[in-house]
Amino acid sequence: KVVAVIMVGGPTKGTRFRPLSFNIPKPLFPLAGQPMVHHPICACKRIPNLAQIYLIGFYEEREFALYVSSISNELKLPVRYLKEDKPRGSAGGLYYFRDIIMEDSPSHIFLLNCDVCCSFPLPAMLDAHKRYGGMGTMLVIKVSAESANQFGELVADPTTNELLHYTEKPETFVSNLINCGVYVFTPDIFTAIDDVYINREGIANLRRLSNFETLQSASRNIPADFVRLDQNILSPLAGKKQLYTYETMDFWEQIKTPGMSLKCSELYLAQFRYTSPDLLASGDGIKSATVSGNAYIHPSAKVHPSAKIGPNVSISANVRVGAGVRLSGCIILDDVEIMENAFVTNSIIGWKSSLGRWSHVQADGEAVTVEDEVVVFNCIVLPNKTLNVSVQEEIIL
Ligand code: GDD
Repeated sequence: KVVAVIMVGGPTKGTRFRPLSFNIPKPLFPLAGQPMVHHPICACKRIPNLAQIYLIGFYEEREFALYVSSISNELKLPVRYLKEDKPRGSAGGLYYFRDIIMEDSPSHIFLLNCDVCCSFPLPAMLDAHKRYGGMGTMLVIKVSAESANQFGELVADPTTNELLHYTEKPETFVSNLINCGVYVFTPDIFTAIDDVYINREGIANLRRLSNFETLQSASRNIPADFVRLDQNILSPLAGKKQLYTYETMDFWEQIKTPGMSLKCSELYLAQFRYTSPDLLASGDGIKSATVSGNAYIHPSAKVHPSAKIGPNVSISANVRVGAGVRLSGCIILDDVEIMENAFVTNSIIGWKSSLGRWSHVQADGEAVTVEDEVVVFNCIVLPNKTLNVSVQEEIIL
């Protein structure tokens, strides 16, 4: 059997995603009309012999309760939310729930960051992992040399794919091959994490026994039970024939900022062409709006047949779109009203916003009212604002 664990973080994480994470936890923010975490969950469904999916985080349980029960029913697969009492780091969180994760005696455990957008080639990774025969295999991708330092940079053996060297967000360039935040492990990963705790205890004991200053400073800043997978496990185990890499040639992005959610929504809409074409809107311009390119329209949304939608638009529940409206490259969140002839591009329109007739919007926001004939361009508009003058390149607080 196989189990999958998705790390969803908590409210103190994902602060760069504000203001979009004020209303709902970042992992539930919709991309291509589906909660962010829905995409890795659906990818897990393709793993042979998958017994369970666990979401580990430190958000309140009630925030995930509704989603977890509806997705379990839909996929006919148990999906459980496990709440950490406090942040323990990516490896610490996994270790904390080791007894529950091992209940099904899995031979393999997938571990996925929830804030990455990719095609999650999990069955192919599992096959490669079994061929390599190590403790873990990590999904990796080549990115531009300029952007590599935002990620874990690594060196892999070109023939055996063994992970030879790993540095998390290095200051000087190591490699443009980076860690995608998607792994498969054997249960030996728990022993590896255990070793980190044992080593730390050893250092702490030594410190108590001696007044040796360097030992003191080495251990002073480490919270005893916070273990990061990248720095505490991947770096020390590189080059020891335990960790291997699997390179993806598909798309991959990290979702840390609101702007990235537009890009990732677009990537997932494009993927729906192959994986779930039934989720893409197909308008004919007579009974339903004209749709060009990829778009998702929630069944409860009311879109006027004379509206033009797309490409790369996703429209959430209870949205009303008036006559002559033109939408492209945008995410329209729940309960938004867009009045006649409004034009929206490259924007996220926040929950319960209202856009007036002939308004022109290129902004992010929530519960924002744009009055008729107002132009908003390149702005971030914060919640509960009424805009009655045109604005450009501003952050409206
Ligand atoms: N449950 C839980 N508890 N989840 C956590 C915790 C924690 O204490 N800390 C982080 N996470 C989750 C985050 O929500 C995210 O999904 C994932 O674990 C990794 O978060 P970070 O540890 O903050 O690392 P990062 O996102 O800056 O970078 C990692 O991912 C990159 C790929 O997106 C590193 O592994 C990089 O090397 C990698 O390139």
